[in-house]
Amino acid sequence: MPEPTPPTDPQTAAQVFLALRHALADSAFLRRYLYTEESARFLGSTHKYGIRLAIQVQELDLIRHLCGNAGAEATNKLQTYLSRRLIPSLPAEFVTAVDVPASVPTDQSGDRCRALAEQSLARELPASLPYAHYFMELTRMATQQDPRCVTSPRLEEFSAYLGHCHRNTMAKARHRHPELWDQTQGHYVLDSRGTSFAIHFVQQLLRQNLLNPGTRFIDFGSGIGTMIATVHYYSPAHATGIEQHPGLNRLALCLLKKLSRLKAYSRAHVSLKTGNAFHPEVIDLSRYDVCYVYSPLGIDVIKADAVLDRLRVGAVLISNRRPRRFHDRVETLPEIGGIAAYRKLAP
Ligand SMILES: C[S@@+](CC[C@H](N)C(=O)[O-])C[C@H]1O[C@@H](n2cnc3c(N)ncnc32)[C@H](O)[C@@H]1O
Repeated sequence: MPEPTPPTDPQTAAQVFLALRHALADSAFLRRYLYTEESARFLGSTHKYGIRLAIQVQELDLIRHLCGNAGAEATNKLQTYLSRRLIPSLPAEFVTAVDVPASVPTDQSGDRCRALAEQSLARELPASLPYAHYFMELTRMATQQDPRCVTSPRLEEFSAYLGHCHRNTMAKARHRHPELWDQTQGHYVLDSRGTSFAIHFVQQLLRQNLLNPGTRFIDFGSGIGTMIATVHYYSPAHATGIEQHPGLNRLALCLLKKLSRLKAYSRAHVSLKTGNAFHPEVIDLSRYDVCYVYSPLGIDVIKADAVLDRLRVGAVLISNRRPRRFHDRVETLPEIGGIAAYRKLAP
């Protein structure tokens, strides 16, 4: 067997840039090498806890970790990128706070707070970086070194990219459509549980066999398209969003386009409709197998009964609103992502 040819210096440098791109999507890496200064404290009660991470780069360890024995050229290139581009552009700190339900006994609240804060850090820290920017920049630098290197994103990278694009889209929605933040009711009309929730939710649907090839999923009130994008990219199902606000649907389309820079989206498997979903001429709900309704308002803006009425027998409704009129015409399924699920039964 002929000996494999050792990689050239530029090929090695390309792999180092891709390794950094991958590492920036990993909260354990970020905490170990970049955000190493940590402070945590209870915030006025034993059921509310905050963690603050501040940037303090362990540069030598980081270079050793990513370069191993990659050689001087790749090491120098990484060092230059870190000092000139990455480190000056990273957010200075990351703060997260968690509330533990009052039902948790005081002697367990500390442990529960810590566990919840750790989960939130693992989910949110990578998305708090301008990851989309680093992804593009490091991909470009890797291909400049080695045009033949493989740059397709890993799942974690795509998730960090989705998280970052979602945050930007949410910020744009706040800025462009301030009327959607209805302070008077004490809730935001436009709310989203974020991409970590959406990914977890889709994984649970997959596990429960509710998102298969050919399944038609609809998000009733799809906002900026977070759930639709997640169903599209993380499952083989068809995803439809129906949203009454045209500005939000425009943002949803932009989100899909941004994501398509990493993975092409299939127009045959995703669609966004604008209009009032309560009007049957706008959307025929009987064509869908799984209907997701997330209405965070205290009052029933989107009523479960009104939706169930228009679903076909056998379809599944996932909703934080309980059916009343239809309570004896549904089979209650296991919760999905902490939200109740119902299958519509024949009358
Ligand atoms: C809380 S957001 C949910 C966003 C999205 N489903 C998610 O989970 O990320 C609720 C959305 O429902 C939309 N909405 C409310 N009533 C609607 C209706 N009758 N028809 C279509 N959209 C509606 C609102 O404009 C808002 O964007």
